[in-house]
Amino acid sequence: MIGAGSTGIAVAKALHGRGIDFDCFELGDRVGGNWVFQNSNGVSSSYRSLHINTSRERMEYSDFPMPKSYPDFPRHDHIAEYFDAYVDHFGFRDRIIFGTAVEHVEPGTDGGFEVRTGDGETRHYESLVVANGHHWDPRWPEPAFPGSETFEGEQIHAHDYKHESQLAGRDVVVLGMGNSAMDIAVDASYHAEHTILAARRGAYIVPKYIFGRPIDRAGPADNLPPKIRFPIMERLLKTQVGKMTDYGLPEPDHKFGHAHPTVSGRILDRLAHGAIEVKPNIASLEGETVRFVDGTEAHADLVVYCTGYKITFPFFDEDFLSAKDNEVRLYRRMFHPEMTGLYFPGLVQPLGAIMPVAERQGVLIADAIDGRFALPSRAEMEREIDATRAEMKKRYVASKRHTIQVDQEHYMRELAKELKAGRERAATPIPGVAVSTTSG
Ligand SMILES: Cc1cc2nc3c(=O)[nH]c(=O)nc-3n(C[C@H](O)[C@H](O)[C@H](O)COP(=O)(O)OP(=O)(O)OC[C@H]3O[C@@H](n4cnc5c(N)ncnc54)[C@H](O)[C@@H]3O)c2cc1C
Ligand SMILES: NC(=O)c1ccc[n+]([C@@H]2O[C@H](COP(=O)([O-])OP(=O)(O)OC[C@H]3O[C@@H](n4cnc5c(N)ncnc54)[C@H](OP(=O)(O)O)[C@@H]3O)[C@@H](O)[C@H]2O)c1
Repeated sequence: MIGAGSTGIAVAKALHGRGIDFDCFELGDRVGGNWVFQNSNGVSSSYRSLHINTSRERMEYSDFPMPKSYPDFPRHDHIAEYFDAYVDHFGFRDRIIFGTAVEHVEPGTDGGFEVRTGDGETRHYESLVVANGHHWDPRWPEPAFPGSETFEGEQIHAHDYKHESQLAGRDVVVLGMGNSAMDIAVDASYHAEHTILAARRGAYIVPKYIFGRPIDRAGPADNLPPKIRFPIMERLLKTQVGKMTDYGLPEPDHKFGHAHPTVSGRILDRLAHGAIEVKPNIASLEGETVRFVDGTEAHADLVVYCTGYKITFPFFDEDFLSAKDNEVRLYRRMFHPEMTGLYFPGLVQPLGAIMPVAERQGVLIADAIDGRFALPSRAEMEREIDATRAEMKKRYVASKRHTIQVDQEHYMRELAKELKAGRERAATPIPGVAVSTTSG
């Protein structure tokens, strides 16, 4: 297994519980990945002020609730402690090899995988669980804005934003309308001299609370079909929050639920206080000036590009597997359709939280490894992949940030059905159909 973030540990717990033999390699010196502020792995995207935006109850693992003493939206250090406690509670810390990078993986000549690690060893494994995260490799604006090479201010990506001191007393332009942009613009509104939020498209900004409860526990029921649930949500937002244009933000060019949600309990307040100025997209940079597409200009000491992340597997040769434009072809978002024993848990962007999803994926992976679960035919897998991609393309705003979207509860139900179907397939194998897989 590659990675002991919140996804890796959920899968590790499932394998450990089944008595499946495994090694989990972790670059850092502790579990929790992204949620470890200043993680020794050097790739965590967290910043001092980061809090979860999916509520505690939405995010926790089903069999290990977060402490009731935690607030509804805890800070990164609470979350990292929670993941640490999970590993001790289920007793598999000794299966994690800390401070050890997986450097290269290639398919073995007789099946399985040859895995070279940072300690100089190459080991053979029958199965590979890839849980290296997908929010650590910065996606800078593509192409770069004209003049960015000679711009005299500083340009950073949200990934490199760690502390409010980076903003103090400066004229700051924050680009993007995702959750990183919201948090960093709010921090800047308190610490910078002047804050501009620039965006190429609008978003529906969802507050953290509605009717006095965390919004992801108080909105319309998850099991409603999207075409009923999202219009209700859009109307709820209109009545509770008002129109985005009332805050000086651009009108979203899409319906609610057709873009990854932007959640912020604070940005609207800061906009209402006039602490953040709104601009359209950046057109170009020159000297210490940022020019926007509406022809206006502003002085800037710092531009923070909150332009998202790339899905990257640095340990695979590109011709074996890469995610060009964030696209990866996986059956049910987690099974490689051609390579037996290759699993990608957590490689989803849920409307909801990743952790309960990874927990359920862990059960499927454990089942597949110990032979209780069988995949369908290659043709069936390819059909499912094509259908899912087509559905996603139809629903979501065209953007590299929308290639692995799932609705948490819907996807969890899909996984439960897949588990049942895979167990039935394993119990009655069909001749000529790819059966997963190897024993532990
Ligand atoms: C700023 C920010 C805030 C977020 N907030 C939320 C939120 O509120 N709710 C939510 O559900 N999601 C949130 N997310 C999404 C986030 O991806 C998940 O919360 C979670 O971190 C996913 O866990 P993971 O284990 O898949 O990935 P990660 O947390 O990135 O963990 C991957 C692990 O793999 C290790 N690793 C990577 N490469 C190697 C290698 N080659 N060898 C060995 N080890 C390796 C890393 O060291 C790391 O420990 C947020 C993301 C960001 C960037
Ligand atoms: N817990 C929290 O509070 C929290 C905080 C930060 C991040 N997160 C999570 O971390 C993940 C990443 O979030 P993120 O905000 O960093 O990235 P993101 O969701 O991918 O958003 C990227 C933003 O940048 C814009 N963008 C991309 N390229 C651009 C370009 N060339 N020019 C102008 N705009 C461009 C996108 O616009 P388009 O829509 O037009 O592509 C989008 O608004 C998400 O899962 C998010 O929920 C959570």
